[in-house]
Amino acid sequence: MENNDDKLMEKIISLCKRRGFVYPGSEIYGGLAGTWDYGPLGVALKNNIKDAWRKKFVSSRNDMYEVDAAILMNGEVWKASGHVDTFTDPLVECTKCKKRFREDTLKVKGKCDDCGGVTGEARQFNMMFSTKIGAVEDSAATVYLRPETAQGIFVNFKNIVDSFHPKLPFGIAQIGKAFRNEITPRDFIFRVREIEQMEVEYFIREDDADKSFTYWHEEIVSFAEELGLDMASFHEVIVGDGDRAHYSKRTTDFEFDFPFGQKELFGLAYRGSFDLNNHKLEYIDEEAKEKITPHVIEPSMGVDRLVLALMLSAYAEDTQGEEVRSYLKFKPSMAPVVCAVSPLLKNKPELVEKARVVYGMLKSEFGRVMWDDNGNIGKRYRRQDEIGTPWCIVIDFDTLTDDTVTIRDRDTGSQERIAKLELVDYIKERLS
Ligand code: GAP
Repeated sequence: MENNDDKLMEKIISLCKRRGFVYPGSEIYGGLAGTWDYGPLGVALKNNIKDAWRKKFVSSRNDMYEVDAAILMNGEVWKASGHVDTFTDPLVECTKCKKRFREDTLKVKGKCDDCGGVTGEARQFNMMFSTKIGAVEDSAATVYLRPETAQGIFVNFKNIVDSFHPKLPFGIAQIGKAFRNEITPRDFIFRVREIEQMEVEYFIREDDADKSFTYWHEEIVSFAEELGLDMASFHEVIVGDGDRAHYSKRTTDFEFDFPFGQKELFGLAYRGSFDLNNHKLEYIDEEAKEKITPHVIEPSMGVDRLVLALMLSAYAEDTQGEEVRSYLKFKPSMAPVVCAVSPLLKNKPELVEKARVVYGMLKSEFGRVMWDDNGNIGKRYRRQDEIGTPWCIVIDFDTLTDDTVTIRDRDTGSQERIAKLELVDYIKERLS
């Protein structure tokens, strides 16, 4: 039977497609499991997330170096990192319908989710996507699409040290795509095969591991708050010895109450010196006058899961008269569109001309501004509410005489009349 959580996911997925946030990948050819395409509003939301991350973790700091490494990486990287041997998930096959599943996602262990048949013995399935480089089909040419952006950071550790001579502690940051051949991609953009990650590898002296772990823990929580995530749905879970990734000495997962259960949103790992040791990379500690292998604290986030968690945090419904209104109460800084500008009537050239001037002024100031003259004003408000636009600005006949406009608030529906010249400051104040 359908429950409210299923219905909520259906509403979010349908809103995403209808309004241009997220579309199924390769849709006109029947789709491709585990891939999704972001439309204009999804791109804007992702950019706002990435801008906020970059501001907090890179540009506002003096100890962070951002890289943009290649997605295709030499196979040797993944042998050294342990991914060739251990980046696996348990795969089971139904003995009846032959469908394959990730064992730990089965509703009932040993029973096929689809036909109820018995599933066979689990075998370890490597989740890395490989491909061949060049024209010759031999094993020497096998390369992997990175399954985590982290290794693109580690392989550039020496380059950053040689170019910038940073003192410990310092971090290297990266935003980029990673690829995982998930056995059962599911739950919309929660478990996908093509992922966008935002990762920091923070290099420290071993003695500072506990202090640094606590520091990054706090940074993650404050970032979640700054984005406007529903903090009542945000939980911390310490990952036990048997459940941590192969490289981790200590992990805290930050989980979110998705409609399909409490699941990982971010991870914070203490990777020790695992990666730098395996890549045979060292650092000359000028203070101690010795060569050391720094240890690493890694806050790691997935952009796609954040998009979903932010949509769920923002989704709201209320009733206005007979009608149920759905809206996304994004923080203004996260909203894909900051404000929409409309002439009250689109067949009145004098209103359109004035509205175009206001639109131009706001567009050059904020960029994320939409022109909307479709349908009546009520319909425009509903449409903007549904995509989470905090303010709608309408140019009417009074504007022509006194240069004032109405500005409507998404959450309360209330309207104010303010001078056109005050608009930029009004929005700027509320954006920050
Ligand atoms: N470098 C560490 C690392 O990759 P992870 O926990 O495997 O750690 C980090 O991944 C983050 O990437 C996760 O917290 C999640 O947000 C995101 N992520 C991982 N696999 C994903 C998938 N299949 N689909 C969407 N996001 C994923």
